Amino acid sequence: MILSQLNRRNLLKLGAAAGTTSLLSAPFVIAQSAPITIRLSHVVSASGHPKGDAAALFAERVNSQLEGQVKVEVFPSSQLYNDDQVLEAMILGNVEMAAPSLSKLEQFTLQFRVFDLPFLFSGIDAVDRFQQGESGRGLLQSLDAYGLQGLGYWHNGMKQFSANRPLLMPEDAAGLLFRIQSSDVLQAMIEQLGASAQKMAFAEVYGALQTGVVDGQENTWSNIYTKRFFEVQDGASETNHGILDYIVIASADFMASLPDDIRDELMRIFHEVTEERNALSTAINLENRQKIIDEGGVVRELNDMQRNAWVEALRPVWDRFSDDIGADVIDAAFNA
Ligand code: LMR
Repeated sequence: MILSQLNRRNLLKLGAAAGTTSLLSAPFVIAQSAPITIRLSHVVSASGHPKGDAAALFAERVNSQLEGQVKVEVFPSSQLYNDDQVLEAMILGNVEMAAPSLSKLEQFTLQFRVFDLPFLFSGIDAVDRFQQGESGRGLLQSLDAYGLQGLGYWHNGMKQFSANRPLLMPEDAAGLLFRIQSSDVLQAMIEQLGASAQKMAFAEVYGALQTGVVDGQENTWSNIYTKRFFEVQDGASETNHGILDYIVIASADFMASLPDDIRDELMRIFHEVTEERNALSTAINLENRQKIIDEGGVVRELNDMQRNAWVEALRPVWDRFSDDIGADVIDAAFNA
């Protein structure tokens, strides 16, 4: 092996084997190969958000523990791509990692629709149990066919409805136009309320709410707070009607191109960060809920009668998608 082909890691190993670091300090060793760069693109705020914080911690750990070998560059707030573009960009090799919302994955595998069924999961712990089970692991693998590797799931939390008028009963939503993610289940859910749905990229939501292009939206406390939606809405109702969660994906070609030891280290750090940050996602959402109130936003709690009315109004959506998803997958999610 000639010196110019040695990367820093191999040099370190050689140095250690020789019981010396002289190779590293020798003046002729100037050709270090550049670190492998991982561009991680996402659409939410860089910090104070479950996904933003997880991405930042992953980058921090990789960049310190694999220093000189791998460099993770995080591009938050749709700086590089929105969620629909990022999947295409990854298939084309223009970005290595992303963490889109599960609602944006139905274009690959219809079973991902299970995550959008209203009032199916009781909370993020149930989502976690489902994801760790057979169906959840199978969904990760289902992306192999598209040259994408599902690395794991990052949590956000439960979604709430907000609009330019109070929403206490499902009838209050009738006639309004809601921004939704690009998901047919979410479209059916909004239509079930007698309202209309407009699919729109996350980066455009604040402006659309502010200018009245749409009347309302549904999202987690973290997204409503960090993207300031509460400033341009009458209020948000605590419906907890669905979940917003993420799949972390990488280009399969990119992962296959990594040396085995580097890939193993990356995945070790990834799983460590996932476990740590997922455990905090509910607390972060509750903090952001409180910040909305502290900064003058309106949070409306529902009483049992009101909440049951939302559950009843939205239940028919399940039947429309049970063939696409499969009764066994819906049962597994429900039982989780
Ligand atoms: C949305 O588009 O509302 C969300 O998917 C954004 C996100 O990544 O949380």
